[in-house]
Amino acid sequence: MKILIVGSGGREHAIAVSVAKSPKAEKIYCAPGNAGIGQIAECVPIGAMEFDKLIDFAKEKQIDLTIIGMDDPLVGGLTDQMEAAGLRVFGPRKNAAILEGSKAFSKDLMKKYHIPTAAYENFDDPQKALAYLETAPMPVVLKADGLALGKGVLICETLEEARAGVKTIMEDKKFGSAGNRMVIEEFMTGREVSVLSFVDGRTIKIMSSAQDHKRALDGDQGLNTGGMGNFSPSPFYTEEVDAFCKKYIYQATVDAMAAEGRPFKGVIFFGLMLTDKGPRVLEYNARFGDPEAQVVLPRMKNDMIEVVEACIDGTLDQIDLEFEDNAAVCVVLASEGYPVAYEKGFPIKGLEKFDGKEGYYCFHAGTKLTDQGIVTNGGRVLGVTATGATLKEARANAYEATQWVTFENKYMRTDIGKAIDEV
Ligand code: AMP
Ligand code: GLY
Repeated sequence: MKILIVGSGGREHAIAVSVAKSPKAEKIYCAPGNAGIGQIAECVPIGAMEFDKLIDFAKEKQIDLTIIGMDDPLVGGLTDQMEAAGLRVFGPRKNAAILEGSKAFSKDLMKKYHIPTAAYENFDDPQKALAYLETAPMPVVLKADGLALGKGVLICETLEEARAGVKTIMEDKKFGSAGNRMVIEEFMTGREVSVLSFVDGRTIKIMSSAQDHKRALDGDQGLNTGGMGNFSPSPFYTEEVDAFCKKYIYQATVDAMAAEGRPFKGVIFFGLMLTDKGPRVLEYNARFGDPEAQVVLPRMKNDMIEVVEACIDGTLDQIDLEFEDNAAVCVVLASEGYPVAYEKGFPIKGLEKFDGKEGYYCFHAGTKLTDQGIVTNGGRVLGVTATGATLKEARANAYEATQWVTFENKYMRTDIGKAIDEV
């Protein structure tokens, strides 16, 4: 089969590595891809939002299957447009990707179908939002409705901060049109777990759990980022938590989408918080997580193409998802200064040390191939993943492997997976 992957991050590299393991994969293309993906796929210089060009390319190359990794093209309806052109695509249609594309939609869905989540109100008028805040308990959580690169969430400790937050989101439009509407939500506390799942419109199969580290600095300090590293499985995702989520969250979400006439086919990412009242949904994403894919997919035993095709064909009930009985840790190597301001274009050395090392992966995110070799080209540069028999072993292996690569202004957190010491 000829496969096209849409996206350019560490997640898409992890997807490409999984796809390449399938005997069904004859040729892999990636648009636009990056230097690491370019080592196992042919990268084509087409952006993920250039729908017409992607469709022309897929038709010309007679692509058998397109896998869309990123949220923007999914929410923008790339699946619908490719399907209309007669192409086979993995990823939700626009009317289902709204599960991620609109927080107001997803909150209303959860309320209507009694799926446990934080109490909330939606607003499209800043004056009404301000009036509501006057009696809201603090801290309070403000969320821009639309896609905002994971940055549209403000946790406000005081009424003052919350008032300023409404202005930031709805009046100053710091997150653009994502802030035309806003959710104001109850603040919850608890440990966070990421659960990815494959969905075929009716059936849902859960992948192994993971825990992300969103803040830039050690000790969960500093600004929110796209994710500085993570581990899988999460020891806090117990059988009891799993049973609760299976009963009240996973199938309930898939059934709710089907009942709304928005059958979901693709990956649903459940961002969960384990509160003292039980698990609650923080957010849904309509795609693999980044860097969740970099710890979950290396542990998956199944043939990726078989699973993806089962989602498209509605035969996921016939697939047994299986994961290795091991653990994986991913440490992101970033450019110093991420997520605010950072330099790029520095040569990366030592990448070849990963060649032929089983259980070690160097997933590229912000990298580029130039005349001087592979150079840094983004805030998150590489995701170094290692597996191990236990989480502790995987963490030691991952941190050892972070030393194999060097580049100027290399930065990483030193405490990815520290929480596992508490178990
Ligand atoms: P989201 O994009 O909705 O997952 O929010 C980003 C991050 O904000 C989450 O990973 C949580 O750490 C935090 N957050 C979101 N909603 C809440 C909430 N209701 N209570 C506490 N923290 C939250
Ligand atoms: N790692 C969080 C996300 O992909 O949204």
